[in-house]
Amino acid sequence: MRRAKISVIGAGNVGATTAHWCASMELGDIVLLDIPATEDMPKGKALDLMQSAPIMGFDSTITGTTDYSDTAGSDVVVITAGIARKPGMSRDDLLSTNAKIMSSVAAEVKSSSPDAIIIVVSNPLDAMVQRALVVSGFPSARVIGQAGVLDTARYRTFLAMELGVSVEDISALLMGGHGDTMVPMPSCTSVGGIPVTQLLDQDKLDSIVDRARKGGAEIVGLLKTGSAYYAPAAATAQMVEAIVKDKKRLIPCAAYCENEYQVGGYYVGVPVILGSGGVEKIVELELTEQEKSDFQHSVDAVKELIVSMNQLLGE
Ligand code: APR
Repeated sequence: MRRAKISVIGAGNVGATTAHWCASMELGDIVLLDIPATEDMPKGKALDLMQSAPIMGFDSTITGTTDYSDTAGSDVVVITAGIARKPGMSRDDLLSTNAKIMSSVAAEVKSSSPDAIIIVVSNPLDAMVQRALVVSGFPSARVIGQAGVLDTARYRTFLAMELGVSVEDISALLMGGHGDTMVPMPSCTSVGGIPVTQLLDQDKLDSIVDRARKGGAEIVGLLKTGSAYYAPAAATAQMVEAIVKDKKRLIPCAAYCENEYQVGGYYVGVPVILGSGGVEKIVELELTEQEKSDFQHSVDAVKELIVSMNQLLGE
């Protein structure tokens, strides 16, 4: 049986680490692509990763390239191409540069891998994934943004640290855009089956949510030369796994919502069922009045981002 073909566009920190996780999880054969100006860098990283295979015990192949023909016929294409956020730069500052990069990458993916499922990781996420949808012309089920798995993982990490319990026992959900407006869902957060509201008071929960919201910026402030990549790459690998193994995971992703949650045609973080068809279902929850208003606020922020992007692109 043919192994899945997974291409990762952008062989920087997030891209190379995604290739690393995907290979070690034996999710398929991996092609790591970067721009020609990087010369042989993707080849070097791919070869280095391949040489870890005998030690780590995986049989995936990893190929580095600057030529899209090597990615032809991919089952999944992960897009991490773009510039990373530096201290003092908001995700939105990245908008103009990364929108142009996304346009060129999505056009290449459309012609080289017309049947692929695209996972967008580049920021500002909610705008980049919309751009990938428009330029590729793929059905929206096959163009997905990675945000919710990471945001929820950050939230789960901080909850586990506060409660002194295993992260494995924390089940949680965050919705909305990938940024400061993401919406916590305390009614969907539990610790070993116990509602989190029985274990932490509101003030503590609020401060943990706030730290998760600013989780990316906290890491940018510490790294000083770029943005987070281990957890974003692990989150992406989990999405790739759900697709190539048709796992039907119920996880939060940035999905294109039309009538769902009355979003009206934008990408926003919602719980979805992720399988070999991509977003196979958007799960609609009953929201409380507070959650509805927080979600709407988040959707409004995404809409503003798209308007600015389209203005910058002259569209
Ligand atoms: N095609 C392919 N690769 C590109 C292109 C392009 N048109 N333009 C830039 N790249 C490559 C760069 O050459 C670089 O190797 O994308 C890579 C980005 O890597 P890093 O600078 O290390 O950035 P990284 O930390 O990986 O973040 C990438 O993911 O999480 C998001 O906010 C983050 O938008 C950023 C993206």
